Amino acid sequence: MTATNGQPGHFELSGVSKAFPGVRALESVDFDVRAGEVHVLLGENGAGKSTLIKIMGGVHRPDDGSVRVDGAPVRFGGPSDAERLGVSTIHQEMALVPGLSVAENIHLGRPPRRFGLIDRARMRADAAELVERTGLDLDVDATVGELGVAQRQRVEIAKALSVDTRFLIMDEPTAVLSRSEVTTLFGIVADLTRRGVGVVFISHLLGEVAEVGDRVTVLRDGAKVGELAADADTEELVRLMVGRPLEQQYPARDADIGEQRLEVRGLSRSGALDDVTFTARAGEVVGVGGLVGAGRTELVRAIFGADRYDGGGVWLDGARVPPGDVAAARASGLALVPEDRAGQGLVLGASVEENLGLATLSDRTRAGLVDLADQRASAERTVRSLRIRVDDLARPALTLSGGNQQKIVIGKWLLTRPKVLILDEPTRGIDVGAKAEIYELINELTAGGTTVIVVSSDLPELLGVSDRVLVMADGRLRGELSRAEATQEDVMALAVAHGNGADDDA
Ligand SMILES: Nc1ncnc2c1ncn2[C@@H]1O[C@H](COP(=O)(O)OP(=O)(O)OP(=O)(O)O)[C@@H](O)[C@H]1O
Ligand SMILES: [Mg+2]
Repeated sequence: MTATNGQPGHFELSGVSKAFPGVRALESVDFDVRAGEVHVLLGENGAGKSTLIKIMGGVHRPDDGSVRVDGAPVRFGGPSDAERLGVSTIHQEMALVPGLSVAENIHLGRPPRRFGLIDRARMRADAAELVERTGLDLDVDATVGELGVAQRQRVEIAKALSVDTRFLIMDEPTAVLSRSEVTTLFGIVADLTRRGVGVVFISHLLGEVAEVGDRVTVLRDGAKVGELAADADTEELVRLMVGRPLEQQYPARDADIGEQRLEVRGLSRSGALDDVTFTARAGEVVGVGGLVGAGRTELVRAIFGADRYDGGGVWLDGARVPPGDVAAARASGLALVPEDRAGQGLVLGASVEENLGLATLSDRTRAGLVDLADQRASAERTVRSLRIRVDDLARPALTLSGGNQQKIVIGKWLLTRPKVLILDEPTRGIDVGAKAEIYELINELTAGGTTVIVVSSDLPELLGVSDRVLVMADGRLRGELSRAEATQEDVMALAVAHGNGADDDA
C-alpha cells in the first residue's frame, strides 16, 4: 500500500472541474471513498456521474482540482496508472472485444502465461472458477459479440472482479441484471467491503441506494448538491436530483381504446417462442412482463422482423406483416426501440441530428437529397420534448451521457410516427425525471391512436403504464392481467409458475 500521511484506503477528489466543448461536465466537485464503504453517486442523465468516475479511473484528466490516493496527490496519465493503484472500473459503455470469448475478455491485457505463451487452458479454468465464485450466469466459451446486453454486463463485472482491487467503481452495473443477480452482486460487494475495498456505485434505481450504500452524493448539472447517509428519504434524493419535488411518477392514464390493430397469432421459433397469440388495440398500452430470458425480447424482435420465425404470423390493421423484413415492418407502421440501444440503436460517430434522422431518412429524401431543414426542425423538436441534454445538434452522439444517448434512440423511432410502437426496456438507465416524461409521451401517443407495447422488468413501471399486462415464461404467454386487477405478486406468480423460479427479475 502506498499510504503516506496515515490515510490508507482513501480516494479523494477535491474541487474537481472538467469541461468538454460546450459543456461544463463538473464544477468544483468534492468526492471521496474510503476503504470498506460503498459510496453511491446519484444524478440525472448528464449530471456528470460518469465523468467523475472516469477521472477516478484515469480516463479523463481534471481541468482543475486535485486527486489524492491514500493522502498522496496523484496525476493519472491514463487508465493503467489508476489500475496500478488498484482502481478497477466497470464502465457504463461496455469495453469488451466482440470477437473474443468470455474467458479471453475477462483476461484481456493480462492473460495467464506458461513458458512465455498464453496459457489457454488456465485462462478458461480461471474464468470458469471466477464465474462460479461470483454466481454469475455465464458461459466462458461463448463469443462476446453473440451475447445479449445482460450477458455482456456480466462479463464486465467478472472482468473487474478478476483483479486485485482496492477501489471498485461501478457505473450502472445493475441496469441489465435480473433481480437474483443484483442480490448476488450486492453480496459480492458486501464481501469486498468487508475485505477493505472502497466501492463507488452509480444507479438510477433509487431503491438500490439504501440497499447497497453507506453514503450517497447527489450531482446536479455538474455540481455537488448534497451528501447524505444512504438511508436518506427517497423523496429527498429525488428533490436533490431534479431540483424540485416530483409529483407523480406515473401520470394518470385516461385510456381511449379503439379498434383492434395488431394481431400476433401462433408465433413460434424453435427454442425461443412457443405459439404466442395476442392482440392489441389502437390507443392501448400492452405491457409484457416476465423474467430475463422468458422470451420477451425474442417476441418483439420477431414481430418487428428483426428475427425470423418458423410458425405463425403478425397482422397490422388486417394486413400480414412480412416475416423477417424490418424495412417492410417499418413501412407498415411498426417501430421497435431495442433493448441494446448502444449496439443496435445508435451510430456513435454520427451527430445527434443525423442519429435522430436515421429512421426517417428515406421519408425526407427526394431525388437522392435529404431535406436537411426538415431534419433539423424535427431533431430540435425531439431534443426539446425528451429534454435531451446537448447544446449543439452537430455533436457526435458519443459525447452524450449514457441516458441521453438512449433518449436519442427513443426519439428517432418516435419521429417515424408509428401505428405500433414497441419499447423494449425503455427506461433502463434513464433518470427519474426523464422516466416520467417518457410515460407522459406514451400517454400522448396513445391518445393519438398509437398502440404501444412495453417490455419491462421494472414491475411498478409495467403496472404503472400498461392497460393490460401479458406475462411470458419459457417463450410462452402464461397469462394476461388487466390494469385494474394486476399486482406485482400476480405478475411474478405467472412469470415463475412454469419457468425456472430461481431467476426472478422483479
Ligand atoms: N467525451 C465527451 N465529450 C464531450 N462531452 C462529454 C463527453 N463525455 C461527457 N460529456 C458531457 O458531459 C456531461 C456529463 O456527462 P456524463 O456522462 O458524466 O453524465 P452522467 O451523469 O453519467 O449521465 P447518465 O446518467 O446519462 O449516464 C454531459 O453533458 C455530456 O454530454
Ligand atoms: Mg453515465
